[in-house]
Amino acid sequence: MSEEGPFRRLLNYMRPHRRTVRLASFCSIFNKFWDLAPPLLIGLAVDVVVLREDSTLASVGVVDPWHQLVLLSVLTFLIWGLESLFEYFYGVLWRNLAQTVQHELRLDTFDHVQQQGMAWFDERQKGDILAILNDDINQLERFLDKGANDLLQVSTTVIVVGAVFLLISWQVALFAVLPIPLIVWGSFRYQRSLEPRYATVRAAAGQMNALLENDLSGMATVQSFTAEANELRRVEALSDAYREANREAIRLSAAFTPLIRMAILVGFTATLLLGGWFTLEGTMAVGAYSVLVFMTQRLLWPLTRLGETFDLYQRAMASSTRVLDVLASPIELKQGTFEPEDEAEKTSPISLSDVTFGYPDRTVLFDKLSLSFEAGKTTGVVGSTGAGKTSLIRLLLRFAEPQDGDIVWCGAPLDTWNLQVLRSSIALVDQHITLFPTTIMENIRYGRPSATDEEVIEAAAVAEAASFVRLLPKGWETLVGEGGHRLSGGQRQRVAIARAVLKDAPLLVLDEATSAVDNETEAALQRSIERISRDRTTIVIAHRLSTVRHADRILVFEEGQVVEDGTHDSLVVEDGVYARLWSVQTGDTR
Ligand code: CTP
Ligand code: MG
Repeated sequence: MSEEGPFRRLLNYMRPHRRTVRLASFCSIFNKFWDLAPPLLIGLAVDVVVLREDSTLASVGVVDPWHQLVLLSVLTFLIWGLESLFEYFYGVLWRNLAQTVQHELRLDTFDHVQQQGMAWFDERQKGDILAILNDDINQLERFLDKGANDLLQVSTTVIVVGAVFLLISWQVALFAVLPIPLIVWGSFRYQRSLEPRYATVRAAAGQMNALLENDLSGMATVQSFTAEANELRRVEALSDAYREANREAIRLSAAFTPLIRMAILVGFTATLLLGGWFTLEGTMAVGAYSVLVFMTQRLLWPLTRLGETFDLYQRAMASSTRVLDVLASPIELKQGTFEPEDEAEKTSPISLSDVTFGYPDRTVLFDKLSLSFEAGKTTGVVGSTGAGKTSLIRLLLRFAEPQDGDIVWCGAPLDTWNLQVLRSSIALVDQHITLFPTTIMENIRYGRPSATDEEVIEAAAVAEAASFVRLLPKGWETLVGEGGHRLSGGQRQRVAIARAVLKDAPLLVLDEATSAVDNETEAALQRSIERISRDRTTIVIAHRLSTVRHADRILVFEEGQVVEDGTHDSLVVEDGVYARLWSVQTGDTR
């Protein structure tokens, strides 16, 4: 949270548009200015018909009453024209500004979110971030669309009407304009009391969004556990919390309008009685009296609308706090500048020395871990579940940062690397595969967007994917569905391998990449992978030991430590953890 108020922060954010804001404000104010002129015209007209040659207009040189009326008509035309013109311009300016600001804010926020480290995402819920990128930004759009103009026009009205009253009769002004400070004071009180309530409303909306997002993406789990009623209750509870938070805000904001109307009633009655009395006494002109009566009317509507406008304002501020907080959350991932020389990655090992790492609120996972992945060789990594194999990869990609120690590649610690260069040097097939809801062709092309169709198909052949794709009715144009769920687990894996093959990066990492394919396909994949990993640093993580059997070297992990290290043959002879696993998997019970 920043020390500044949300409004200041928003203004700061909108600084590049300050010229548009100024121009739009100018148009709003001038539109109101001309909009307030008709009561004066009516006053002048009454003045003409009552006083004829002695009217106010006569005193500026137009003596004939008929000429005075013609002059008034011309003025009326002019003023209405100007009013409409400014109305058009403020409409266009504010509404386009609202669109531009929401567009830029959404892009900036998403860009910022994309640069966050994985730890940032671990702390948050996707649905809540979604709510910020959608609802909260839209809330801001609604305020800029209408609210800013309303606030400016109310202020203009109060100032102009106040000035006209003062010019005509300070005594009436005293009573009619007196309630206005009261209204402003009430508004401020009201505004402050609503602020925390709308913050609660927005937080509740974010939580509900998160739950809905979870439920929808886990629908198969929900249904298989017949937990629908339970989920409905959870949604109901959060939706109810949202409603309650709003109810609180509504209670306060609804009372506002009647209160303001009462205050204006006092001003209106004062004008009616006091002004009428002065006119009867002959100390105030009939025309001036009409101006005052019509002017108080002009106060009524904008001021009663103030409740709505403040409501919009408060909601927008609660939302912009959420958006700007995301935008202000520091990017903890340090960006470096190191870029290796051409081909250096292919000949340089990746060395970890004394790396200490643990997840937040967990015990230390790697305690002074030192090891090295040889360049151009294939290293198999095995070990029991939770041993830290995937975490090791996360460190290499800098999805997580070690608390201590260094990981060095091409002579430079990873945190001095240009992050994008580092990540484009690693082709990863993740343990949890994510495909995008598009065609198989486009999913594979994700590995290298510039690749031709032929290159995509070639990569698919290496990944043993081409054969199954050809059997699909729509072939390469088959849509894979959200997350790739319209493919089988093994098909998904092969598409992901093809994607990584196409990337053609110096370091290839396969994390349980073939766990879901049948033995026959695995054996075929094995041969392809062997071929493409020939002159490439490759890390293969697997539970199925046959996958790593032919690796140049195998590391056995237990609780974040390397407990065994060697080739398949040497490890079998060593008769330790690996040998035991091997005999279990080959069915050799000894
Ligand atoms: N862990 C964690 N926070 C994460 C990811 C993992 O606290 N964001 C923990 C896990 O609970 C586990 C340990 O870190 O205790 C190691 O996890 P991981 O590296 O994923 O283990 P793997 O060896 O990859 O296990 P598996 O074979 O099951 O994939
Ligand atoms: Mg893992």
